[in-house]
Amino acid sequence: MAIRRRPPVVAAIAVVLAVASIVSAEVYFEERFGVRFDGWEDRWVKSDWKKDENMAGDWNYTSGKWTGDPEDKGIQTAEDYKFYAISAQFPEFSNKDKTLVLQFSVKHEQKLDCGGGYIKLLSGEVDQKKFSGDTPYGIMFGPDICGYSTKKVHAIFSRDGKNHLIKKDVTCESDQLTHVYTLVVRPDATYSIFIDNNEKQTGSLYTDWDILPPKQIKDPDAKKPEDWDDKEYIPDPDDKKPEGYDDVPKEIPDVEAKKPEDWDDEEDGEWTAPTIPNPEYKGPWKQKKIKNPNYKGKWKAPLIDNPDFKDDPYIYAYSNLRYVGFELWQVKAGSIFDNILVCDDPEYAKKFAEETWGKLKDAEKAAFEEAEKKKDEEESKDDLSDVEEDDDEEEDPTDEADSKADSDAEDDKEAAHDEL
Ligand SMILES: *[C@@H]1O[C@H](CO)[C@@H](O)[C@H](O)[C@H]1NC(C)=O
Repeated sequence: MAIRRRPPVVAAIAVVLAVASIVSAEVYFEERFGVRFDGWEDRWVKSDWKKDENMAGDWNYTSGKWTGDPEDKGIQTAEDYKFYAISAQFPEFSNKDKTLVLQFSVKHEQKLDCGGGYIKLLSGEVDQKKFSGDTPYGIMFGPDICGYSTKKVHAIFSRDGKNHLIKKDVTCESDQLTHVYTLVVRPDATYSIFIDNNEKQTGSLYTDWDILPPKQIKDPDAKKPEDWDDKEYIPDPDDKKPEGYDDVPKEIPDVEAKKPEDWDDEEDGEWTAPTIPNPEYKGPWKQKKIKNPNYKGKWKAPLIDNPDFKDDPYIYAYSNLRYVGFELWQVKAGSIFDNILVCDDPEYAKKFAEETWGKLKDAEKAAFEEAEKKKDEEESKDDLSDVEEDDDEEEDPTDEADSKADSDAEDDKEAAHDEL
């Protein structure tokens, strides 16, 4: 065996860098599923929730109908119109004074029309066999689709039994390919949401959620000053009604009307011409309006510090995180979840996404397009055979000969394949 010599300095630096990048990330939970990471069923607990009603959906362990690597499996919601609840435990930790990263990938193979695709991070003690929609959680994060109107990324922080939804819109992906969702929460109470390693939203937990009461409120005791002029426009005092304006009648007699020949004054009474709208009539007079020179703008109560506000510098923190779980309702099943990561290092998460989803996404897309093409071809073949069946009413001897020739050709092909 030949020994390859590397310049010692370069080798040393490489080792230091590798170690540094490993040491800097603390990984609390990582689940890749897949055959190289066997035994996922030992790590995940399927809940009995909804089982007695026969509404508990099972999971398939699969890489799906199109994939960049058939060996790279995930867990897929298997049955339509079911509730899903599954969770996994990890050693308890707190994200106090640390960055928290929650990341996973999901592929909605079924062209999800209505259903959730989000993950939950749970604290404390959870009976995993009873994990349900009612189980309190810390953070819920990920896509939610229903019809055309709901295509959003949920980011919910739960505090003291109250769920706080993000106030900003983050649109989720709705195609049939794998996408990676990442939530980063930092100890300065800022956050970022990434899809496929692209930042889609960022800001502060203070402003983009109503987790705490507002810092400032309108002074409830403040009153609008008496002399506050909040009329933007006033009548123009220089605009006077023209003399005789009101004397113009709304209607006038129609001068072109003629008394009918058979009109009998004695029987029908005296004839008067019908009236028509007066073109000179301009409607009731209205005084012109001008900008009010004394306008002070709309009055607003001044803001004061909210006596109910108590700052919580640990607004972002959960003291005893211990589980990840999926708790979903799906009308149409087929969502594949994979590559779940809970860690403290956004860089590690980014690399993890690149090495999993990133490596396979082009091949997956090609496989998807191939599958779509095949489906189209089969559909048009079906249409064609429908037509042929209709035409087959009259037996055509040449048809039979053709199909015989076809099946012979098939046999030959098969034989050839067998020889291979
Ligand atoms: C899950 O697997 C079962 C059994 O192979 C299959 O019938 C079902 O269609 C699968 N579900 C999905 C969503 O592919």
